[in-house]
Amino acid sequence: MKKLLVSIQEKPQVYPIIIGEDLIATVDSLFDFGKYSKIAIITGKNIPKKWLTELQKSLPFESFHILVPSSEKGKTIDTVINIWNQFQKLGMDRKSLVINLGGGVICDMGGFAASTYLRGIDFLQIPTTILAQVDASVGGKTGINFNNIKNYIGAFQQPIGVVIDVNTLSTLPERVYIQGFAEIIKHGLIADRVYFDFVTSKKPKDFNTSELTQMLAKSNEIKRKIVEEDQKERGIRKIVNFGHTIGHAIESLSFETDTPFLHGEAVLLGMIVETKISELTDLLPAEDAAIIYERLSRLGLPVSVGKIKGEDIMKKIKTDKKVVKGQVNWTLLNSIGRAIYNQKVDDKIVEKALATVVK
Ligand SMILES: NC(=O)c1ccc[n+]([C@@H]2O[C@H](COP(=O)([O-])OP(=O)(O)OC[C@H]3O[C@@H](n4cnc5c(N)ncnc54)[C@H](O)[C@@H]3O)[C@@H](O)[C@H]2O)c1
Ligand SMILES: [Zn+2]
Repeated sequence: MKKLLVSIQEKPQVYPIIIGEDLIATVDSLFDFGKYSKIAIITGKNIPKKWLTELQKSLPFESFHILVPSSEKGKTIDTVINIWNQFQKLGMDRKSLVINLGGGVICDMGGFAASTYLRGIDFLQIPTTILAQVDASVGGKTGINFNNIKNYIGAFQQPIGVVIDVNTLSTLPERVYIQGFAEIIKHGLIADRVYFDFVTSKKPKDFNTSELTQMLAKSNEIKRKIVEEDQKERGIRKIVNFGHTIGHAIESLSFETDTPFLHGEAVLLGMIVETKISELTDLLPAEDAAIIYERLSRLGLPVSVGKIKGEDIMKKIKTDKKVVKGQVNWTLLNSIGRAIYNQKVDDKIVEKALATVVK
């Protein structure tokens, strides 16, 4: 019998990212919600009620809401099971829509619950932290932590759109606000020197709404360009992982302490160490490295890992998802604004670089 070979082209789905003020209150004008059988909003217990109320008011018909833990510790399969149970109880079908309203935890976890329920139903992302607005909601990565390892289980699934309402930043606690700048700065470091200079030109709190809106747009443009080239992270997309190999290890280890780091805080520490690795391997000129250390240290974010030990970080990075056959593939910097991926680095150099944040 003849074998039939069918090849299917993977086509990146195009979806809108809408950025501006008062978008939650006018969301009904942005999408055709009428075609959905039901809408469930997933939001977090710590997220101010006013955003949920505003969203529910602006939807064309009554929606349900599911309240879940909104911190990293709750980003687990147990919470996802709870969400699936509620979807089922609410009678959500393949024509239903999920709206994720919250930070990166809610967008990642809600996106994962939606992309696995009934083999995947539509979801809309409404990120409400800087970090989620510039990073977590773009690129179709959804997921949860597993056995204390960050984002170990997940799926690639595109949302129907992303609504970035700058107003939501007004209710952010200062610590959460500032850590969001880590990912913004990362975008400058890996792709655009002029942008890096702009976003590190003032303290995070000193940017006004119009500058913030511009920044959110620029960061999204940078990430979107990179992701469009490489949906499944087989090549160039790996550059967005700058700071994350060390950052994820520090973040995971900090969950076991009583002072866990926020994602952006851990990524900033990771960027300091990975800048040092880039310098020690002669990829990055010392002058650029000096500028990076100076700018990163005056943001108001932690520059030391506290009680976490260097040897534990070394062990943890070997469990990173990007480790292939025991080899860590590093994303490093060539200069401010240019990154390279798939770099192999000797453990001794990594240990030496860790001294920049392990005190
Ligand atoms: N999928 C991706 O590509 C991607 C990229 C980067 C980060 N992430 C993930 O994102 C997560 C971090 O996201 P995050 O920094 O947004 O943290 P988060 O979701 O934990 O939110 C931080 C805190 O802020 C609260 N909060 C959220 N919005 C608020 C608002 N408008 N007003 C007041 N409080 C608010 C939350 O309830 C939470 O307590 C991590 O789990 C990380 O792995 C994913
Ligand atoms: Zn990140």
